[in-house]
Amino acid sequence: MSCFSSADESAHYGFSVCMLLEQYRSQLRWEQEGVVELGTGDATAIGDVVGSLPGLRVRGFDISPSSVETARANIAERGIADRYTVELGDFFDRADSGGGPPVSTVISNPPYIPAPDRDILMPELWGGVRGNDLVLQLLKAGYDNVIAAVASYSDPEATVRTAEGLGYRVVNFLAMGLDFGPYSNEPKVRRQIQQLCAEGRGWVGDDGYMVAVALFTRSPDVPGDRADQLLRALQL
Ligand SMILES: C[S@@+](CC[C@H](N)C(=O)[O-])C[C@H]1O[C@@H](n2cnc3c(N)ncnc32)[C@H](O)[C@@H]1O
Repeated sequence: MSCFSSADESAHYGFSVCMLLEQYRSQLRWEQEGVVELGTGDATAIGDVVGSLPGLRVRGFDISPSSVETARANIAERGIADRYTVELGDFFDRADSGGGPPVSTVISNPPYIPAPDRDILMPELWGGVRGNDLVLQLLKAGYDNVIAAVASYSDPEATVRTAEGLGYRVVNFLAMGLDFGPYSNEPKVRRQIQQLCAEGRGWVGDDGYMVAVALFTRSPDVPGDRADQLLRALQL
């Protein structure tokens, strides 16, 4: 499989990002600064958000050449290429390049598939042994605001506690139940998920799991902390 495809998950990511950007419009300063994105995929989720928020500019990155090609076609089709760009490459190597003013908000539905190694259906979706390597790396990358999807089976407690240790609070989140799809249903992935759940590092139901798109911030302009509510929402 060459390009991430999961309609429910992408829709939840897009709606949630849109709502969080709207709700915290002034504090996140995205009309002044724009936002960056780790993992654009086919760009449909955030393409619709860019279409509905006229002041939004997104600089996206993806390591998958076929995703970037598809994303560029979808962005062109929506007529938003002036406000949504996609570059091929590793977000962590490239997002600081470009020489523009600093951006304080990053958005992502990051890879979160847990497996013992990268040899899975779509290797670009590998999130390390516990599934949360990429979100942890994102939290350590220095952005004041991180809007990211957190899956119930990818050691969410370690993610939230690491975020706290880095000075982040969970301002708000939108959680949704998702069915196991082709990536999480792969036998070696399901075995890894079972093991994480047995260790108390993950939670799933018989047929599915939870994903929350959460706003982590270390900005004093955005008050509140719903970290414990987020963890409760992910424990099935
Ligand atoms: C779960 S998909 C999300 C795609 C899209 N945002 C969506 O929700 O439909 C994660 C995407 O991240 C990309 N990716 C993985 N590691 C990356 C990295 N280090 N830098 C940039 N993109 C990466 C993958 O190729 C994949 O397209």
